[in-house]
Amino acid sequence: MFDRFEFMLPTTVRYGLGIHKEIGQTLVDAGKKRILLVTDKGLVAAGIAEKISSVLTETGKIAVTLFDQVEANPRDTTVQKGYELAKRSGIDAMVAVGGGSSMDTAKGIGVLLVGGGTIKDYEGLGRVPSRIPTLIAVPTTVGTGSEVTFWAVIKDTKENYKMSVGSPLIAPEIAFLDPELVATLPPAIIAATGMDALTHAIEGYTATLAEPVTDACGLYAIEMISKNLRNAVYTDDLTAKGNLLVGSMIAGICFGNSDVGGGHCMSESLGGLYDMPHGIANAVMLPYIMEYNYPAAMDKFARIAMALGERTERMSEREAAYAAVESVRKLNRDLEIKSLKELGVKMEDLDELAERSANNVSVDSNPRKAGKDDFYAMFLKAMNDA
Ligand SMILES: [Fe+2]
Repeated sequence: MFDRFEFMLPTTVRYGLGIHKEIGQTLVDAGKKRILLVTDKGLVAAGIAEKISSVLTETGKIAVTLFDQVEANPRDTTVQKGYELAKRSGIDAMVAVGGGSSMDTAKGIGVLLVGGGTIKDYEGLGRVPSRIPTLIAVPTTVGTGSEVTFWAVIKDTKENYKMSVGSPLIAPEIAFLDPELVATLPPAIIAATGMDALTHAIEGYTATLAEPVTDACGLYAIEMISKNLRNAVYTDDLTAKGNLLVGSMIAGICFGNSDVGGGHCMSESLGGLYDMPHGIANAVMLPYIMEYNYPAAMDKFARIAMALGERTERMSEREAAYAAVESVRKLNRDLEIKSLKELGVKMEDLDELAERSANNVSVDSNPRKAGKDDFYAMFLKAMNDA
């Protein structure tokens, strides 16, 4: 089945409660002196940006320049602004603190620092000319996986869609995973970002480009995320939150090496057209893409059901595969994920959404061939399920 495959993990992962305190010394040891801290205003207000900034300045050897303009669904114009600030400040390394938006923005800034031009020049895979400056990724959500991927998803503000820039040369050098930083995340953010992580694991495991290593990571991530998500959302269980942080990283290793699929094609279209939070868009469309895909990968979906904790011993393979779809529906209900209609999607936009989904860079990675009409049917079904 596997004639050949390649697996890459250019990032060192360091996990532990309070481990963010080691970031400053790590940068000093690497001889870095001028750091761009890439984050968003919410994390500045929550005091988390300051927490990281102070571990850098406390070394007495590092100057920090703050760039806190990152927004949800980060824009090409924001990457440009960050790059100009980085260049003016003569930075030699970056620390990205936040969700995927902060990390992807930092990757984009890094690309412009080594290649110039605009981020659009690097759209697609393998167009970045050389290694970006040292990037340390510090996730403060439990979903992106961007801390271990070599992809940056940036919104093209001229054509209003999300473009992907991919290259091993943009991967973070080190990811610091610290449960302390997700301890106070609002439940709604844990639910949304956790569902993004689950979507990464399920799509990464079933993508056409999946291979044995991504299979292993995908299945384990599905189990870890689904086992901990409800507890992490509804209780103060720090172990559950830490497990989600790890599960989301493992899901990142999975889809970073295989790909995502039709679920992300649809969620990125929703993000492009409505600025809908990425995790919510994934959560709401995940059962529909799974229902569409399961006949094309029955064995894998049956294993997904087991990883999701469904009792499938007495089921046929087909029943077990479908149980995976139902299991995700139950999870969405438990997490009170809104319907597509409640999220403000308009019937008259379905054609545009379906068209964009069919043109997404990941469409060929979906296990079952999907075109515009298929995406339209999935959106329509989701709209009719109030
Ligand atoms: Fe995602």
